[in-house]
Order: sequence, then C-alpha cells, then structure tokens
Amino acid sequence: SEELAKYDIDTEKIWIRNRQVRGCVACEKCLEDGLCNFTDDCTNDIKKALLECDGIIVGSPVYFAGPNGALCAILDRVFYHDLGKFANKPGAGIVSCRRSGSTASFDRLNKYFTIRNMPIVPSQYWNAVHGNTPEEVRQDKEGVQTMRTLARNMAWMLNAFDKVEKPEHEKEVRTNFIR
Ligand SMILES: Cc1cc2nc3c(=O)[nH]c(=O)nc-3n(C[C@H](O)[C@H](O)[C@H](O)COP(=O)(O)O)c2cc1C
Repeated sequence: SEELAKYDIDTEKIWIRNRQVRGCVACEKCLEDGLCNFTDDCTNDIKKALLECDGIIVGSPVYFAGPNGALCAILDRVFYHDLGKFANKPGAGIVSCRRSGSTASFDRLNKYFTIRNMPIVPSQYWNAVHGNTPEEVRQDKEGVQTMRTLARNMAWMLNAFDKVEKPEHEKEVRTNFIR
C-alpha cells in the first residue's frame, strides 16, 4: 500500500482475522442478484467493498500448499457469481509462507480472477514472500521487491485502464461436460 500511495492510488485493507466464515453450498442464489444467501458473516460486506474498488489484491498465508481455508470460503462465495461486475478490474494474489507451497497457493488465488474477466497484474517473480514472522519476511529482499514491482504494475494498469473503453462481454454460455 505504501508503493501504491506513491502513485496516488488509495487502498483499503480488509482483514479476515479469526472471523467465522461459512462455505459455499451451491444454492446459486447469487446468480439471481449477485449476493450470497448467507447473511450472517462478513462475506457480502466484503463483496460489496470489492465491487466498489478499481483493483483487488488478495493476500494469504500458505496452509498445506494452498491459501487459508476461511479466505477460500469467502472467495468461493464472492466469485461464484458476480453478474459480470468484477470484469476488467485488475487482480493480484500474494502469498506468505514459511518454506514451500507458495506457487500452488498463488495459482489458486489467480483462478478467481481469471474466471471473472479480471486482468492479472504481473511482477518480476511469482508473488510470494518467505518467512514465519514479519521480520523474517523483511529479510526476504527479493520477495519484498517482487511486491513493490507488483504495486507499481498495479498502479500502471489502473491508470492505463482508466483511459480506454472496456470491452463488451458476451452473456456467458454454460456447457456442462460432456456432450
Ligand atoms: C495449518 C497451517 C499450515 C501451514 N502450511 C504451510 C505450508 O504448506 N507451507 C509453508 O511454507 N508454510 C506453512 N505454514 C506456515 C505459514 O504459511 C506461515 O507461518 C505463514 O506465513 C504465517 O502467516 P500468518 O501468521 O498470517 O498465519 C502453515 C501454517 C499453518 C497454521
């Protein structure tokens, strides 16, 4: 967020912390109005906040070579259907791990963006830092530089996308395999 501020990009951080979160149950109510049927946790508020912003960065610790479970539960429900409203907002996943499993977690986060017509923001390496504490992460100079580069690319994409018209998106065809 410090790097983004240098390019006049305002940021808002939303932390899940230890909030209780439900998983998606495939009721598909969100296909009707874009919001989750479960209203007793933070997911719809997070979704509304994400719909309002121009770009999204999702960060997670690595748990068993995947993103945090509560985060995935929220993201499943946020992105299952958005009625096309996330399209063209640049997205980026970032992960923090002690040792390994970072690229699998990073790939999983990117899956949410690439299914919703969201351009992925690149960096100079896959977006991961290593360390078990903030101090150890600060020692990961290459990881920290990767995050700075990512922020600059995000700022560049946000400013560039502002100047061009968004493409039209066709109504989605859903063809269940196999026919
Ligand atoms: C349930 C669990 C699973 C974990 N799995 C991994 C793992 O697969 N690879 C890894 O490098 N670190 C793993 N870790 C370590 C965390 O990724 C690491 O401590 C994390 O960066 C700390 O972030 P946090 O304090 O925000 O949870 C795991 C930690 C927990 C609690």
